Amino acid sequence: MAMKEQLAKIKEEALAAIQETSAAGNLDAVRVKYLGKKGELTAVLKQMGKLPAEERPAIGQIANEVRAALTDAIAAQNKVLADAALNAKLAAETVDVTIPGKKTDLGHKHPITIVIDEMKDIFTGMGFQVAEGPEIELAAYNFTRLNTEEGHPGREWTDTFYITEGKDDPKNDAVLLRSQTSPMQIRVMEAQKPPIRIIAPGRVYRKDEADAAHSPMFHQIEGMVVDKGVTMADLKGTLNEVVKSLYGEEAQTRFRPHHFPFTEPSCEVDVQCFACKGKGCPVCKGEGWIEVLGAGMIHPKVLEGCGIDTDIYSGWAFGMGVERLAMMRFGINNLKLCFENDVRFLEQF
Ligand code: DAH
Repeated sequence: MAMKEQLAKIKEEALAAIQETSAAGNLDAVRVKYLGKKGELTAVLKQMGKLPAEERPAIGQIANEVRAALTDAIAAQNKVLADAALNAKLAAETVDVTIPGKKTDLGHKHPITIVIDEMKDIFTGMGFQVAEGPEIELAAYNFTRLNTEEGHPGREWTDTFYITEGKDDPKNDAVLLRSQTSPMQIRVMEAQKPPIRIIAPGRVYRKDEADAAHSPMFHQIEGMVVDKGVTMADLKGTLNEVVKSLYGEEAQTRFRPHHFPFTEPSCEVDVQCFACKGKGCPVCKGEGWIEVLGAGMIHPKVLEGCGIDTDIYSGWAFGMGVERLAMMRFGINNLKLCFENDVRFLEQF
């Protein structure tokens, strides 16, 4: 076959093959088949040398035209295929914005968490830091270093959950579930120097039979201030502010003398019953007042045991039960509701 016809045939076949391709991969195979190093067009061009010199320019021109035509056709088909692929992808990934969304139910904060968060807000607003510590504690921190000696009823195994007996020193090395957040006083004083202003919320454990007002696990918030010249007046002023933040400006408090081993003097703080305004009703069991926390000036023995010079520093501390606050606040009449995980209860907050 004359070279001119060969070229025409290649052009015709190649253009048809290019048109028929349906994917980038086989388009490239077609390109290689005709234009590649060992391709058909290339093979014909290699024959050019055998042509008589006068025919070469004309055939060379035709060959160039064929190459250009195929190159253009491949580029055009490439675009067609790319567009088709993009359209297919778009169609496959179409989002129907009219389909109703999947509804995720938002949870509720537990009433105990609500109260703890609120107390954190109130106290951090007064410059306190929030400290956290272990629920599994040593008897030394839970009792001894809080000036609570052997023989105190709280130290009995009937009151407190012991995990191990003390190995070397039964009095101090015993491991237990903390029965109060007060050991955090010791842990904080060990870790930082005065001035100290902290609250420490957390779980505590006691061997109490579960009933409407008791649970073997409950929450306390410990508070402590150690600084120069701290007095009982600071304690009263701060706790009065806290009670007002919680229960409103008209809330009344009452400080009663009491005894705690780790404070001297010690007191209990009552809030006037919000339900009857002090007249006496079922909420306050006829008392007119509801006890909310224990407090006092930190005992010098406790401060000194943590290396704090009591000629320079003094401090006050308090411990309050969170459940009691939450029950008063939300009108919850049975503590068990707080721990049953019934969503019908939890959804109300
Ligand atoms: N830890 C005491 C309790 O669980 C409460 C308490 C009383 C904490 C007086 C204190 C305090 O920090 O000063 O009954």
